[in-house]
Amino acid sequence: EDKEQALKQKVRELLEQKNAVLVAHYYTDPVVQALAEETGGFVADSLEMARFGRDHSADTLVVAGVRFMGETSKILSPEKRVLMPTLEAECSLDLGCPVDEFSAFCDQHPDREVVVYANTSAAVKARADWVVTSSCAVDIVEHLMDQDKKIIWGPDKYLGSYIQKNTGADMLLWDSSCIVHEEFKAKGIEDLKQVYPDAAVLVHPESPDSVVQVADVVGSTSQLLKASQDMPNSTFIVATDRGIFYKMQQASPDKSFVEAPTAGESATCKSCAHCPWMAMNSLEALVQCLEKPGELNVVEVDDALRVKSLIPLHRMLDFTA
Ligand code: 13P
Ligand code: SF4
Repeated sequence: EDKEQALKQKVRELLEQKNAVLVAHYYTDPVVQALAEETGGFVADSLEMARFGRDHSADTLVVAGVRFMGETSKILSPEKRVLMPTLEAECSLDLGCPVDEFSAFCDQHPDREVVVYANTSAAVKARADWVVTSSCAVDIVEHLMDQDKKIIWGPDKYLGSYIQKNTGADMLLWDSSCIVHEEFKAKGIEDLKQVYPDAAVLVHPESPDSVVQVADVVGSTSQLLKASQDMPNSTFIVATDRGIFYKMQQASPDKSFVEAPTAGESATCKSCAHCPWMAMNSLEALVQCLEKPGELNVVEVDDALRVKSLIPLHRMLDFTA
């Protein structure tokens, strides 16, 4: 406790000294999310993190999340210093979509519009026509369908197949998945519904089809957060990273949030629905990157890639403005 208080105080001081602002994803540790909020920073989904960082006047953005989030911030704000508590925070979708292979796949289908999830490297974004996040993917695909476009979708196959089913779009899917969401089990959720018969089931579309089918609401992090506020249920079974419980509980203090089971098949199974890379954003790591700005964990993006990836990123930001 004392150590945590001291580290938090240190972060507050360093943010002020360095004219830095902390932007945290919903999946980071609640302590980090609370610090972002109380220091004038922001807690959000990947789309709104990027927009907030771009529009903020601080010299330095400290991005607590995974690497693609830091990269996106740098792409949108090249004049700012972008730091991350760790540069080792990967994402299995990003790792599962190497640019050379993805690019070769795209080259085989030159008649298709390339739509990539934000959870990708700057190089993959630079190869794309559109970047999307789960909060705007369906709308953007529908927009492309209106123009009779056929689509290449990467990298998340579950999100891709969810969009395909909902829109009827002609989509070729890259084969990658999120190691956190693919572990949720429909059977475990159904068992848990016996224990909480009035609970609503909230599911992120990076989950497998069978899990999406038992959902009351399917949506991105921000959409699930909103559903937890708007729906009258007092209990929610949530199939996404448990980091989001911090904001759900804050918005609805009288409601209960239960983790959807992962590997097990029974209602008593305790899930471990937490992204290991998000968990690397510790208070210690935050202090370290702020103590040595310019030396430690500075996000850099190759200039040519930056300029190219800005085009599909701007399309998304303009579309969702
Ligand atoms: P959002 O775009 O909803 O923030 O989700 C990012 C992510 O990593 C989901 O697992
Ligand atoms: Fe990537 Fe999944 Fe972690 Fe999100 S939860 S950052 S998609 S590995």
